[in-house]
Amino acid sequence: MRAQPDPSASEGHAQTGSLQFVLKARLLMRLYVNIDHVATVRQARRTDEPDPVRAAVLAELGGADGITVHLREDRRHVQDRDVRILMETARTGINLELAAASEVLALAEAWRPMQATLVPEKREEVTTEGGLALDTPDARRHVAAAADRLKAAGIRTSLFIDPDPEAVRASVQMGVDAVELHTGEYANTRGAERDAQLGRLRRAASLGRSLGLAVHAGHGLTYENVTPVAVVPEIEELNIGHSIISRAVLVGLERATREMAEILRRARA
Ligand code: PXP
Repeated sequence: MRAQPDPSASEGHAQTGSLQFVLKARLLMRLYVNIDHVATVRQARRTDEPDPVRAAVLAELGGADGITVHLREDRRHVQDRDVRILMETARTGINLELAAASEVLALAEAWRPMQATLVPEKREEVTTEGGLALDTPDARRHVAAAADRLKAAGIRTSLFIDPDPEAVRASVQMGVDAVELHTGEYANTRGAERDAQLGRLRRAASLGRSLGLAVHAGHGLTYENVTPVAVVPEIEELNIGHSIISRAVLVGLERATREMAEILRRARA
């Protein structure tokens, strides 16, 4: 199996505490392209096209820093075969999204992607609807057990959480490397409510960073709404899927990725 890149060697994972970190943190933002919806189109006909593996190549050519796939328990879009081949062929790192309880955990331990992000999963949902529930000791134990397995396998581990201080602090307690802040409520609101959601994201990002976590963000981000999130200095990685794949249907995935990467570059300039 092709070795996944070492995240600590990547520019975006610069060490804290140095001037170099401060400069890079201000300048760099990794774009991870979520290619689930390429698989959604394929599964609509249960055929073999379009192939997410080919899509990953185009996203990388367009400037993606990594590829994200969510292997759901119900396998509604991405299939085991996709992740297996991506692990062999991606030139960047794979961020595997998975549910804490699923049998996908054992697959992640065997595949050892560069990064794994634990997400909540409900069968009836259209897409991931919120961050992980971390508000009870049982819920925290459940997520911590999964995170411990991933960490023991040497996988950089992230938790998809709501942008709230309690969730950030609970994540720190679990010793994970990163949190991905859920931007869905920011994306779904307008006007003053959106400003309030942005403030919530900023505070959570700042708290997470100050407590030693790498801070990622994603969900519902588009070409139109991404910039205010991309300028938050503590956020170092964005996971964006639906909007890029939607544009790709019209202009091609390489160009759609390049256009998003360019927006992120301008936001950090
Ligand atoms: N981050 C996580 C944890 C997700 O579950 C998803 C959706 O699969 C995304 C980011 C990407 O969201 P979107 O497709 O709305 O860009």
